[in-house]
Amino acid sequence: MPIQTSITTVAQASADAALLAVPFGEDLAPRVELPVPAAPLLEHYQAKGEAGEIVEVPVARGDAVGRVLLYGVGDGSATALRKAGAAVARRAKGRDALSVVLPEGARAAFVEGALLAAYTFRIGESGSGPVAAIEFASEDAEAEVARGQAIAGAVALARDLANTPSSEKNPEWLAERALEQLAEDGPQGRTSARVWDEDALRSGGFGGILAVGQGSVSPPRLIQLSYEPADAPERRARGERIGHYVLVGKGITYDTGGLSLKPTDNMKFMKTDMAGGAVVIAVLGALARLGAPVRVTGLIAAAENSFSGSAQRPGDVITQYGGRTVEVLNTDAEGRLVMADALAYADAELDPDLMVDIATLTGAIGIALGKGLGAVFASDDELAARLNEAGEASGERLWRMPLIDDYAPALESAVADLANIEAGSAYGAGSITAALFLREFTGKRPWAHLDIAGVGRSTADEGLLTKGATGFGVRLLLEWLTGR
Ligand code: BES
Ligand code: MN
Ligand code: ZN
Repeated sequence: MPIQTSITTVAQASADAALLAVPFGEDLAPRVELPVPAAPLLEHYQAKGEAGEIVEVPVARGDAVGRVLLYGVGDGSATALRKAGAAVARRAKGRDALSVVLPEGARAAFVEGALLAAYTFRIGESGSGPVAAIEFASEDAEAEVARGQAIAGAVALARDLANTPSSEKNPEWLAERALEQLAEDGPQGRTSARVWDEDALRSGGFGGILAVGQGSVSPPRLIQLSYEPADAPERRARGERIGHYVLVGKGITYDTGGLSLKPTDNMKFMKTDMAGGAVVIAVLGALARLGAPVRVTGLIAAAENSFSGSAQRPGDVITQYGGRTVEVLNTDAEGRLVMADALAYADAELDPDLMVDIATLTGAIGIALGKGLGAVFASDDELAARLNEAGEASGERLWRMPLIDDYAPALESAVADLANIEAGSAYGAGSITAALFLREFTGKRPWAHLDIAGVGRSTADEGLLTKGATGFGVRLLLEWLTGR
């Protein structure tokens, strides 16, 4: 469900707010009378003012009791303010209204943190919802509040798509949601879309997407979403070259593993195996609202990896887009097969300046980097550096992993151009060999691959994250494409 908390921006916080959040150290006198002066109060609680810290004080509100939340802002950085915003919003859970005096500095980050912590996904009526309304108080903060709101809204969309059960979410459903998203186009850019159904995929030669999807009663789709800046026609008329970036997302709407069937404990989370595709859909939708100086094309390779009599078999040989043959040794290594088609298509047909893909590709990356760091593999140092910077700035951190050529022989096949996994165990490094597989389909273009299998899902409500899909990648990619 999109963010349910309604937002207003005002110059001054309401004087009678029942729940008022104020940064530490702020002079409270004009707003509220504390039962004890703030300084001894903070000292009493040994409050340090760290980001995420809250000192809660009851105050008289006429005949009723109100609360003031004195919140810490840490070093005042965007990261700290995101955390502060999340803590404040969590404390207001289930309440009708919260009034927040915004801190100095990165106010968009504070808003982003508050709204993401308030995100909820429930099917049914039970459970307490987030705070119903937040009033952000600050002079001249409309633009920053709007940016925080736009970014949080995009993350919420990616979470919603990934949290939706696969009884509802199939490739066709995902394509419909993608088109819907683009129809809600803002004033900042021009967008268009194209969807390949199974007939179009067949005549187009998308053998990887078809092979993965052939076991399912819900046929696969390839979804293309295009954005160009509003001023592109004028810039082109002036002879200016407009950069073109391609984003490719893994859109496996459910991953049973196929005939290489997953055990239940691994399978039960696999409705989120389209998290990368969800990120691409959400980013393309937000670009129309936030604006970006380059053209961006999003490709979502959508298929359901099912277990059935029509499913592909271990030992089958498939032909990827562009003609390369692949021996499928394990049908659970399906993400790379659908991604390879999309990357090869982008390389052959779209002439991008660079390509970035995002995928819940390997369980191994969660072992290597845990739940707090996404992986970036890149053929280009400059691109890796830019994405890393965007990761630090957005709070979605990346760690660069090696594309080591020594491991490339792991994917040799006796019968086809490539195998989809290593036949033996001489090399290991499952995330690296998966990335090396993808690299084969990127031509000579600057390319980066984000493996978000470790960070795509959270096991708890904590900080900005809510249990379930995280939307990891939306903030990072929007920062990279639209950040200043
Ligand atoms: N979707 C999975 C990867 C995954 C695992 C995502 C855990 C999120 C959490 C992917 O399709 C997969 O099954 N990968 C296999 C590759 C193996 C067969 C080489 C894996 O990681 O086990
Ligand atoms: Mn799989
Ligand atoms: Zn998968």
